[in-house]
Amino acid sequence: MNEPGQVLINRKEIAQKVEELAFSINQDYQNESVLFVGVLKGAVVFLADLIRYMSIPVEIDFMAVSSYGNSTKSSGEVRILKDLEQSIDHKNVLIVEDIMDTGLTLQFLSKTLHQRHPLSIQVVTLLDKPQKRLVNIHPDYLGFTIGDNFVVGYGLDFGEKFRELPDIHVLNQ
Ligand code: IMP
Ligand code: MG
Repeated sequence: MNEPGQVLINRKEIAQKVEELAFSINQDYQNESVLFVGVLKGAVVFLADLIRYMSIPVEIDFMAVSSYGNSTKSSGEVRILKDLEQSIDHKNVLIVEDIMDTGLTLQFLSKTLHQRHPLSIQVVTLLDKPQKRLVNIHPDYLGFTIGDNFVVGYGLDFGEKFRELPDIHVLNQ
C-alpha cells in the first residue's frame, strides 16, 4: 500500500488552472514586479509552470520549512530549514504553496515574512483541503479545493516519493 491510486486532477486540468491563476495574478499586479517565494519542495513544479505565464517582472526565491517527514499527519510545529537569500523590504511577495491543510505552514510563513516589511504579501496555493483547517487563513489565489485525501504527484510527495508524477493522484493508504 501507500501507492498512487486513481487520478484526482489530471495534467490537462492542472495546466488550465495554472494558466487561469497566472491570468489573475498578472491582472492584479499590473506593472509591478513580484517576488515569488516557493515553499520547498512541493511547490517547485507549480512555481515553474506558473512563472512561464507571467507578463510582469518576476523574481524567484525559496524557503523550506519542516515537513511531515514520512507521516501523512501534521505535527503542528513549523521551523525554518532554509531561508530566503534576499531582503523583501519594499517588495511585493507572493508565497507559492502546493497544498494547504491545517494552514499552520502558511500562517507561520505569512507571519514571518510580514515582520520583514514587504510592500505587500499574498498567497497562491494550488490545492486546499479545508476540512482539517486549524487556523483562520485563506489563500488569495486558489486552484482546487479537494476533500480530506492525501494526494501525491505534480510536486507533492509521500516520504519524498511520487513528486515526478504529472497528474495528481490519491494515495492508497
Ligand atoms: P499545513 O501546514 O497542515 O497546511 O500543511 C501544508 C503542508 O503539508 C504542505 O506544504 C505539504 O507539504 C504537506 N501536505 C499536506 N497535505 C498533503 C498531501 O495531501 N500530500 C502531500 N503533502 C501534503
Ligand atoms: Mg509543502
